[in-house]
Amino acid sequence: MLKTLRQATTALLLCTSALVAQTASADTDGKPTSATIHADKPGAVYDKRVFTQFAEHLGNGIYGGLYVGNDKSIPNTNGFRNDVIAALRNLSVPIIRWPGGCFADEYHWREGIGPKKNRPVKVNTHWGGVTEPNSVGTDEYFELLRQVGAEAYISGNVGNGTPQEMAEWVEYMTAPAGSLADLRAKNGHKEPYAVPYFGIGNELWGCGGNMRPEFAADETRRYATFVKSPRGTKIMKIAAGANVDDTNWTEVMMREAGDKLDGLSLHYYTLLNGAFPPIGNPSEFDETQWANILSQARRMDDLITRHSAVMDKYDPQKRVFLAVDEWGTWYAQDKGTHPGFLRQQNSLRDALVASVHLDIFAKHADRVRMTAIAQMVNVLQAMILTDGKKMVLTPTYHVFEMYKPWQDATVLPIEIDAPWYHKDQFNMPAVSGSAVRGKDGKVHVGLSNLDPNQPNTVAIKLDGVSAANVSGRILTAPAINSLNSFDAPETVKPVAFTGAQMSGGTLTVALPPKSVVVLDVQ
Ligand code: AHR
Repeated sequence: MLKTLRQATTALLLCTSALVAQTASADTDGKPTSATIHADKPGAVYDKRVFTQFAEHLGNGIYGGLYVGNDKSIPNTNGFRNDVIAALRNLSVPIIRWPGGCFADEYHWREGIGPKKNRPVKVNTHWGGVTEPNSVGTDEYFELLRQVGAEAYISGNVGNGTPQEMAEWVEYMTAPAGSLADLRAKNGHKEPYAVPYFGIGNELWGCGGNMRPEFAADETRRYATFVKSPRGTKIMKIAAGANVDDTNWTEVMMREAGDKLDGLSLHYYTLLNGAFPPIGNPSEFDETQWANILSQARRMDDLITRHSAVMDKYDPQKRVFLAVDEWGTWYAQDKGTHPGFLRQQNSLRDALVASVHLDIFAKHADRVRMTAIAQMVNVLQAMILTDGKKMVLTPTYHVFEMYKPWQDATVLPIEIDAPWYHKDQFNMPAVSGSAVRGKDGKVHVGLSNLDPNQPNTVAIKLDGVSAANVSGRILTAPAINSLNSFDAPETVKPVAFTGAQMSGGTLTVALPPKSVVVLDVQ
């Protein structure tokens, strides 16, 4: 199913590219970009939950990446490595989604509580067939949240778990009293945990049970019934949503189960050629593959538009939010790594994929109030890579750090009229951007130049802003595939940007090729 849908996506994309190419040929390239920011017409809040991270029991996402247990050679606090936690704290990660993914569809929470020596060692059947020690379970997850300063988003097991098991897991975590609260207290946590977000399954169309949407909607209603929050608390329920462009899934879920939900998810990965299983090398690629990946990333805009239109039919007030809780690049794994571990390097190209997504989410802030990049550490488009004691921050990490002022800011509509960047059959506007009024009162502007060869000067009219000063940072690198390695960890990192000026109400920005610039205007 997954494969079929993703192949259909590829076909559609090629078709779309052809249409875009016709449009693009009419444009005059090489012109500077003009833009307007409508600070006088503020939009929706850019929800900080858009910066949610996803941590699955997959490869070294948890074990080795976040958790090293009693390994004294890697400084840690209660098993979680201090270097990684400090880096994540610096991002102000609002929420961590756990324990999967497909892992969640087979996860039985009771195997991950109590004395570690009593926890069963299982096989991670979905991810590489390696042993799963269950050393990180529910109580360790909440310790991770405490250290990072994030909130919980649990993915429940609808795949091969029962509604009773799900209900008891919620009770174990949240009940103020009763036998499961006593069990939690026995495990060292007398006070209930807060569980603000609970996923009613994951990918029910695939690894979560290969269900048809009608059956999945009924199962969602049934399981959601038993996710009960104690008096005075609220658990928001997020249904397993569509894969890519399966708007029928969204339609059926909203029609049949929308009244039981707070959020509905959408999963879309940026894949070379849209191909699944994924192809392409994360760090060895040419300009055609650069353009290919960026055009695939830009598809997120159209997908959200289409799923939102379906949701609008059933929920015009936008009560149910769209949670794009899996997105990011997915390539063939790094050479020499376990194929089930989804380990991939992260280059400047991934940084632009991230900024393009964050800009698209601004455009849809009224409906998209949560997203989760996949994944946090060592898996897919990761923030952080580790190897034993070593840790490196990826270019994607730096984009998330630069866009921190977007968290809970107010979106300022931006119109961008940019020249087109063309490479082979791939065509796209050269400049992506978004703007917000931050909680600090400043206007923050993000601009990315997707063209790896041509600089671009952007002249931005600021409606409703009387500003005199601008400062900012830039992320770029010598090559399209520049990356941060353990030997050279600072090849791609943000530095001060001096290419922006304010004059007579116009902000002029000289964007170098292949760059992400974030500006503070005041
Ligand atoms: O993120 C990797 C996997 O992608 C997740 O486990 C699954 O939900 C999706 O198919």
